[in-house]
Amino acid sequence: MAAKKLLPYLLILALNFCGLHAQILPNISLGSSITAGTNDSWRSLSGEFAFGFYPLQNNLYLMGIWFDKIPERTLVWSANRDTPAEAGSTIRLTFAGQLFLTYSNGSVQSVYGGAAASLGFMENNGNFVLKDGNSRVIWQSFDSPTDTLLPTQVLTNGQMLFSNAKGTTDYSTGNFMLEMQYDGNLVLSAYHFSDPGYWFTGTLVSNDSLVFDSNASLYIVNSTNDVIYSLTENFSAPTGEYYHRATIDDMGNFQQYVYHKSNGSGWISMWKAIHEPCLVNAVCGVNGMCSSPDNETVTCNCIPGYIPLDPNHISKGCHPETVVNYCADPSMRNFTIAVIDDADFPFEGFADLDRVLNVDVEGCKVALMDDCYSIAASLVDSRCNKKRMPLLNARKSASTKGITAFVKVPLKSSNPGTQEGEKKNHFNFRAFLEISLIVSATLAFVFGATAIYYHPATRKFVRRKHSSDTTIGVNFREFKYVELHEATNGFSKTVGRGSSGKVYSGVLSLKNMRIEIAVKKLEKEIEKSEEEFMTELKIIGRTYHKNLVRLLGYCVENNQRLLVYELMANGTLSDLLFEEGERPSWVPRAEMVLGISRGLLYFHEECETQIIHCDVKPQNVLLDANYSAKIADFGLSKLLNKDQTRTDTNVRGTMGYLAPEWLRNAPVTSKVDVYSFGVVLLEILCCRRHIELNRVEEESEEDDLVLSDWVVSCMMKGKLEMVVRHDPEVLSDFKRFERMAMVGIWCIHPDPVLRPSMKKVTQMLEATSEVGIPPLLHDQMS
Ligand SMILES: *[C@@H]1O[C@H](CO)[C@@H](O)[C@H](O)[C@H]1NC(C)=O
Ligand SMILES: *[C@@H]1O[C@H](CO)[C@@H](O)[C@H](O)[C@H]1NC(C)=O
Ligand SMILES: *[C@@H]1O[C@H](CO)[C@@H](O)[C@H](O)[C@H]1NC(C)=O
Ligand SMILES: *[C@@H]1O[C@H](CO)[C@@H](O)[C@H](O)[C@H]1NC(C)=O
Ligand SMILES: *[C@@H]1O[C@H](CO)[C@@H](O)[C@H](O)[C@H]1NC(C)=O
Ligand SMILES: *[C@@H]1O[C@H](CO)[C@@H](O)[C@H](O)[C@H]1NC(C)=O
Ligand SMILES: *[C@@H]1O[C@H](CO)[C@@H](O)[C@H](O)[C@H]1NC(C)=O
Ligand SMILES: *[C@@H]1O[C@H](CO)[C@@H](O)[C@H](O)[C@H]1NC(C)=O
Ligand SMILES: *[C@@H]1O[C@H](CO)[C@@H](O)[C@H](O)[C@H]1NC(C)=O
Ligand SMILES: *[C@@H]1O[C@H](CO)[C@@H](O)[C@H](O)[C@H]1NC(C)=O
Repeated sequence: MAAKKLLPYLLILALNFCGLHAQILPNISLGSSITAGTNDSWRSLSGEFAFGFYPLQNNLYLMGIWFDKIPERTLVWSANRDTPAEAGSTIRLTFAGQLFLTYSNGSVQSVYGGAAASLGFMENNGNFVLKDGNSRVIWQSFDSPTDTLLPTQVLTNGQMLFSNAKGTTDYSTGNFMLEMQYDGNLVLSAYHFSDPGYWFTGTLVSNDSLVFDSNASLYIVNSTNDVIYSLTENFSAPTGEYYHRATIDDMGNFQQYVYHKSNGSGWISMWKAIHEPCLVNAVCGVNGMCSSPDNETVTCNCIPGYIPLDPNHISKGCHPETVVNYCADPSMRNFTIAVIDDADFPFEGFADLDRVLNVDVEGCKVALMDDCYSIAASLVDSRCNKKRMPLLNARKSASTKGITAFVKVPLKSSNPGTQEGEKKNHFNFRAFLEISLIVSATLAFVFGATAIYYHPATRKFVRRKHSSDTTIGVNFREFKYVELHEATNGFSKTVGRGSSGKVYSGVLSLKNMRIEIAVKKLEKEIEKSEEEFMTELKIIGRTYHKNLVRLLGYCVENNQRLLVYELMANGTLSDLLFEEGERPSWVPRAEMVLGISRGLLYFHEECETQIIHCDVKPQNVLLDANYSAKIADFGLSKLLNKDQTRTDTNVRGTMGYLAPEWLRNAPVTSKVDVYSFGVVLLEILCCRRHIELNRVEEESEEDDLVLSDWVVSCMMKGKLEMVVRHDPEVLSDFKRFERMAMVGIWCIHPDPVLRPSMKKVTQMLEATSEVGIPPLLHDQMS
C-alpha cells in the first residue's frame, strides 16, 4: 500500500533529477524542464549565457536568454515579453521534441511546434538551438530576435527588432522598430505611427542582411556576402576580452555596447545610429515636444496648449486642453499663437504640406492665423511651413537652432488674451537640409506598407468578364497548416506584405473546383486570447457582401495564425488609380465609389455586430475579375486588437486617411471610416492621390497639394470643373460628379458628429437623398 503511494513520488524525484542533470550538461535532452521560481537554467558550456526564467519584479518571469556571468544579467532574448509568466510556470522540451512554455494558469505557448527535435543546446554565443536527429539546427532563438543582436547573429529581410517599452524594468514591446526591409533598406521607425522612419542605411539591394560578425563588427552584406555598408566605426574591443551586444533601446536608438569581461566596467555604448536623441520620431508621442540639450537624456514636454495623456509619463503624448474647431467661426479668433524659438515640427508626411514663401515671423504668424486647417507652423529660411494634425515630431534640439515654431493655443474662457508669448528670432538653417533628405528618401514608405492580395501577373491583361463566383459555395472553415502549405507551394509566392503580415497566393483544389486563394500570415502581436480571436473570426466568417473580400477560413496551429481569402484578380485600387497605365473610365469609377460605400454600410449597420475597419484606403480596396471593388482586411483591426475604441495613444490607420479624432483624446467611432471613405472617394473621382508632394514645384500657382483642400477651394470659387478639367468624360456627366464631390466634402468634416453615417452617404450617392451644402463650405464662406 505504502509502496504504491510512494511510486509516483519517486517518479517525480527521478524527473527532477533529470532536470538538475540538464543544468550541468550543455545538451538538453527531451523531457527536460525548468520551473519559474527555482534557480534552474540551461547554461552554455562557457557559462556565459543562460536560458530559463528571467525574474522580473512582482514574482513574474520571462522565458529568456541572458548574460549569466555579469552582475547585470542583461536579458538578450525573450519568448513572452508581453505576457510574463508567474512562479510555477514551466519551460518544457517535450518528449515529442517541441518547446513549450506552460503558464501557471495552464495555458500553453508553443515556442517551437514543428518537426520533432532530438535535443536542445545553449550555444556559447547566446543562441539557443534545437537540433534534429542528424544534428541539424531546426530552430534557433537567433531567428526570432527581440530587441538585441549578438555577435554571429544575422538579421535578414523581413526580420525586425522591437524596442522595450519605456522604462528599464519593463521588457514589453515598445514603440520603435529596426527592420531589415524586403527592399534591402535597414530602417529605424516609430512603427506605431505609420512613421516612414528616422534613420536608414539606404541599401536598396535585394536579399541583403545585417551581420553582427564574430569580431563584433556590424555591417550589411549583399547576397554574395560582400560588405555594402558598415555601421560601426573602428573601435578596439576584441570579443575575447569584451562582451558585445547591439540593441534598439527604449528611446528608439540602435546602439552597440561593450562590457569588459573581467573588470566589471558595465555596458558602454561604442556606437549609436542616432547622435541627437530628439531626431527619433514621436519620441515624445503625439503632441509632445522633445528637448535634449546634452544629446544624452531626453526631456518630453507638451506643446503649449496641450496636456499629458498620462501625467506620470509625459512621453506617452499629449492632447489639446480644449478642443476647438478653428474652422467653425474664423471671425471669433478664440486662440492665440505661441511662438517657440529654436524648435520645429519636422516632416510628418500628411502634416507638412502647405508653405508660404518669403515671410518673416510676423508673416508666418498671420499665415497660420488665417488658415483654419493648420494648427501649427515653422519658419525655416523665410519659408513658413504650415502643419496639420498630427504633431508627432516636435523637437527643440541642435538641428532646430534658428527655426521658429508656431502653434495655435485655444484661449481659456476665464483669462482670454493672456497667453501670447513672442520673441525675436535669429535664423540659422543648416540642419534642415539633412531632414529634407531623409524626407525625400523615405517618402515612398508612407504610402508603401499595405496588404494586397492579388496576382501581379494578371495586372497587364485587358479586362475580361468572369461570370461565376466560384467561392460562394465554399463554406467558412478551419484549414490544416499542411493543407495551406501545400496550396501555396510552401508559401513560396508572396503577393503582398502589410503591417500585420505577409500574404501568399495559392490554389485550393476542392472537389472539381480550383479556387485561387490569398493566405495572410499574421505576424503582428495579437492582443487577444485564442478564444476571443476565434469568436471574432467566426463573426467575420459569417459576413458576406459582394463588396467585401471574402474570408474563406483560417488556420490556428503551432502558434501560427493564418487567414485564407479569395484571391482578387485585378489588384489594388491604389495601383489602378495611381500607377502607370490606363486609368479606369468614369462610369466604372463611380460604380467603385458606390461599391465601397455599400460595403462599409454593411459592416457598420447590417452585420450582427458593428465592425469598424479603421484603415480604409485605396491599398485596402481590391478589384475582382470584373473590376468590382471589394474591401479587404475587414475586421482585422477588431481581430488583432482588444479594444476597438481605443483610449490609449495607439493610432491605427494611415496618415492622410486618418480622421482627426484619432489624434485627439476623443472616442473613435464608425465615423473614422466615413472620413477615410471621403478621402478615398475624392481620390477615385479625381484619379489622383490625396497628397501629391511633387506638385510643389510643378504647378506652384495652384493650391492643389492636398486634394480635399483643392476641391473645397474650387467649389467655393464656383469652379469645381477645374478639378477635372483634363477629364472630358467627367465634364460630360458633371452634375453627378458634383453631387459625389459634395458627399466627399461632407465625409471629411473634422467634427465626427457632423459627418453623415454610411447609410446617409450611400443614400446621397444613390441620389435617394438630397445632398445639402457641406458645413465645411458654409464655414468658409461665412
Ligand atoms: C536563487 O538564487 C538567489 C541568489 O543566489 C537566492 O537568493 C535564492 O534563494 C535562490 N532561490 C532558490 C529557490 O533557490
Ligand atoms: C494565462 O496567463 C497568461 C500570462 O499571464 C495570459 O496571457 C493568458 O491569457 C492566461 N490564460 C488564461 C486561459 O487565463
Ligand atoms: C551532445 O549531443 C551531440 C549530438 O547532437 C553529441 O555528439 C555530443 O557528444 C553530446 N554531448 C554531450 C556532452 O552529451
Ligand atoms: C532572393 O532570395 C529569394 C529566396 O531565397 C530568391 O527567390 C530570389 O531570387 C533572390 N533574389 C535575388 C535578386 O537574388
Ligand atoms: C576576425 O578578425 C580576425 C583577426 O583580425 C580575422 O582573421 C577574421 O577573418 C575576422 N573574422 C571575420 C568574420 O571578419
Ligand atoms: C555584391 O557587392 C559586390 C561589391 O560591391 C559586387 O561586386 C557584387 O556583384 C554584389 N553581388 C550582387 C549579387 O549584387
Ligand atoms: C578600420 O580599420 C581598418 C584596419 O585598421 C582600416 O583598414 C579601415 O580603413 C578602418 N576603417 C575606418 C572607417 O576607419
Ligand atoms: C577595464 O579594462 C579595460 C582593459 O584593460 C580598460 O580599458 C577599461 O578602462 C577598464 N575599465 C574599468 C572600469 O576599469
Ligand atoms: C548634439 O549632437 C549634434 C549633432 O551631432 C551636435 O551638432 C551638437 O553640438 C551636439 N550637442 C551637444 C551638447 O553635444
Ligand atoms: C469663443 O469665445 C466666445 C467668447 O468668449 C465664446 O462665446 C465662444 O463659445 C467661443 N467659441 C469657441 C468655438 O470656442
